[in-house]
Amino acid sequence: MTTTALLLFCACSALCGNLALAQRSFSIDYQNNCFEKDGQPFQYISGSIHYSRIPRYYWQDRLMKMYMTGLNAIQVYVPWNFHEPVQGVHNFTGDRDLEHFLDLTNQTGLLVILRPGPYICAEWEMGGLPSWLLKKKNILLRSADTDYLQAVGAWFAVLLPKLKPWLYINGGNIITVQVENEYGSYFACDYNYMRHLRTLFRFFLGEDVVLFTTDGNTDKEMTCGTLQGLYATVDFGTDTNITEAFKRQRHFEPMGPLVNSEFYTGWLDHWGDKHAAVDAKAVSKVLGEMLTLGANVNMYMFEGGTNFGYWNGADHDKRFRSVVTSYDYDAPLSEAGDPTEKLLAIRDIIAQFRDIPAGPVPPATPKFAYGFVTLKKVGNVSEFLKIFSPSGPVKSKDPLTFEEMKQPYGYMLYRTTLPRNLSEPTPLISPLNGVHDRAYVSVNGVYQGFLERDTTLVINVTGNHGDTMDLLLENMGRVNFGSKINDYKGLLSSLNLGKDALTDWKIYSLNIDGAIAEGWPHLQSSKSGPTYRREPSVGPAFYTGTLQPNGLNWDTFLKLHEWTKGQVWINGVNLGRYWPARGPQQTLFVPGPLLSTTLPNTITVLELEQAPPQLRVLFMDRPHLNITANKL
Ligand SMILES: *[C@@H]1O[C@H](CO)[C@@H](O)[C@H](O)[C@H]1NC(C)=O
Ligand SMILES: *[C@@H]1O[C@H](CO)[C@@H](O)[C@H](O)[C@H]1NC(C)=O
Ligand SMILES: *[C@@H]1O[C@H](CO)[C@@H](O)[C@H](O)[C@H]1NC(C)=O
Ligand SMILES: *[C@@H]1O[C@H](CO)[C@@H](O)[C@H](O)[C@H]1NC(C)=O
Ligand SMILES: *[C@@H]1O[C@H](CO)[C@@H](O)[C@H](O)[C@H]1NC(C)=O
Ligand SMILES: *[C@@H]1O[C@H](CO)[C@@H](O)[C@H](O)[C@H]1NC(C)=O
Ligand SMILES: *[C@@H]1O[C@H](CO)[C@@H](O)[C@H](O)[C@H]1NC(C)=O
Repeated sequence: MTTTALLLFCACSALCGNLALAQRSFSIDYQNNCFEKDGQPFQYISGSIHYSRIPRYYWQDRLMKMYMTGLNAIQVYVPWNFHEPVQGVHNFTGDRDLEHFLDLTNQTGLLVILRPGPYICAEWEMGGLPSWLLKKKNILLRSADTDYLQAVGAWFAVLLPKLKPWLYINGGNIITVQVENEYGSYFACDYNYMRHLRTLFRFFLGEDVVLFTTDGNTDKEMTCGTLQGLYATVDFGTDTNITEAFKRQRHFEPMGPLVNSEFYTGWLDHWGDKHAAVDAKAVSKVLGEMLTLGANVNMYMFEGGTNFGYWNGADHDKRFRSVVTSYDYDAPLSEAGDPTEKLLAIRDIIAQFRDIPAGPVPPATPKFAYGFVTLKKVGNVSEFLKIFSPSGPVKSKDPLTFEEMKQPYGYMLYRTTLPRNLSEPTPLISPLNGVHDRAYVSVNGVYQGFLERDTTLVINVTGNHGDTMDLLLENMGRVNFGSKINDYKGLLSSLNLGKDALTDWKIYSLNIDGAIAEGWPHLQSSKSGPTYRREPSVGPAFYTGTLQPNGLNWDTFLKLHEWTKGQVWINGVNLGRYWPARGPQQTLFVPGPLLSTTLPNTITVLELEQAPPQLRVLFMDRPHLNITANKL
């Protein structure tokens, strides 16, 4: 059945073969509606994996599992902001070593479908765009805006020459390269921009590589996202009629291979939403139907991974919704890289179409429940301003944004004084909804509550004339999709206290990650450092504890049961945000190699709202991703 179907849609022409075999080639065979690799018809069965969401030491493990499932290719995004954190300063080392990742895919025997953006969406911070682009007010991102194009050109002049030797036709394993990402769903619909990108890709990668676009499966998206010379592909999930979807691709590409560039195996979660899941049977069934048509399929995601640190993106439709730390995605390989039933179901389907490598899929990595660790309070954020903000505050009549302060991610402190006595609780108002994204408010050290973008624009505060009011501002990840990707962070506009506008701010950049990476608070505790306290408190504060080594460094899952919301580090590495009070994610993935088998492992928690009466955290041997609080 399968061979016949393949021949119908993707038959090798009588002429293909011998001549081309001598030379490496990869192209589109328009006559026979398929890709052609080394002169032979070629169909890919691929899976998405993001190296930026997996620690380097696990790349090979995940790739091997994908190979053993029967995939012949992987698809990967290159997040620009991961590699150019500061304009003109590039990082391709350690967990950002793209070429090492490509080398591992090549060694594993997998081809690569590369998606270098410059915009990638991916539920990644700002869709992969660096936030320093926002220093130009009103920059029109993803368009022919000259400053945007200038930055893209400089980035591609660094990135694309590195990739050129990795093209299949040049001896590497990259078979195709995507231009932009679902551009048709962006309002700008700027053909000059797409033409400019096409020119850049051709200039740096040559005339022979297959360039393509990917768009949502509607006429409007296909119209704005496609361009002559870039092969048009579609993306869709299990709820779509595949005949209809490929008919639409055919409308834009009358001949050539059928391609679903993102076949959704699962879906993402936002804080406060129900946990997303896609049925394994539906995924394997529709996969089989597409392969029967001879289509090329990339499964998005095959291995999702984790939004460590501050790398999660956000959506803004009716309101701002931040993506959770886990990018498990209900994918065939779990967040921790474990094969699931979905993977086995997919493998059974693939086995009907191509020879899959002999032998079992490598097993799950071992997990360990290290148990409870008791924490102590170190102190609240404002006590450590000298450590986090050694150069002190910037003074400004009106508040400055994260971008103006040149702090891309994390937290900043905004301080002012109360202009008068508040004889009764007085509303602190965010009149222009300018708190991006949450502000934790204290007056003279007494926590008052929080303001939240789109949902909580007023709280009552109390205090006296001259009291210090501190707002710890949390950047919860920039919008990665849609028209609101110019997502400035911090206090974007002044706040009112009753009828008075608050002015004369001291704004502190906070390098919390830098301090923790250098050993704070543990290294200081023996010297003149903080004195630890056992009591929890309300308001933003640090807590710390030690997981004693037990000779193992197996993967584990950290549960902050009854904690409210915050950020957690282990041995100086930022594991990401936790927010069990909202859910659905309840545990954070802790990759085993982060743990020491011989030295005490330090845990540092920044709790933003309220710590539980019992200051402890729990290391479990399984994840918990699906409990959403009813309250909001
Ligand atoms: C580059 O990125 C790696 C991996 O995240 C990190 O360990 C390293 O410190 C970075 N290098 C610089 C110079 O920032
Ligand atoms: C990719 O792997 C093949 C086979 O192992 C090897 O011949 C080739 O040199 C590798 N390509 C690169 C760019 O490393
Ligand atoms: C998909 O659409 C086609 C018409 O384009 C229709 O014939 C077919 O029944 C539909 N399939 C399903 C499963 O609805
Ligand atoms: C404000 O309150 C303080 C302390 O309660 C008091 O000493 C002061 O006189 C008050 N100022 C005004 C202007 O009411
Ligand atoms: C603020 O305090 C006033 C006066 O005590 C009260 O009427 C109002 O409901 C409070 N508002 C909020 C948002 O708590
Ligand atoms: C922070 O700690 C200082 C010193 O212990 C204390 O005076 C202040 O009230 C605390 N602030 C908060 C918000 O807990
Ligand atoms: C949550 O996920 C676990 C497996 O991780 C499953 O056993 C449980 O039934 C799920 N609960 C809900 C409410 O979906």
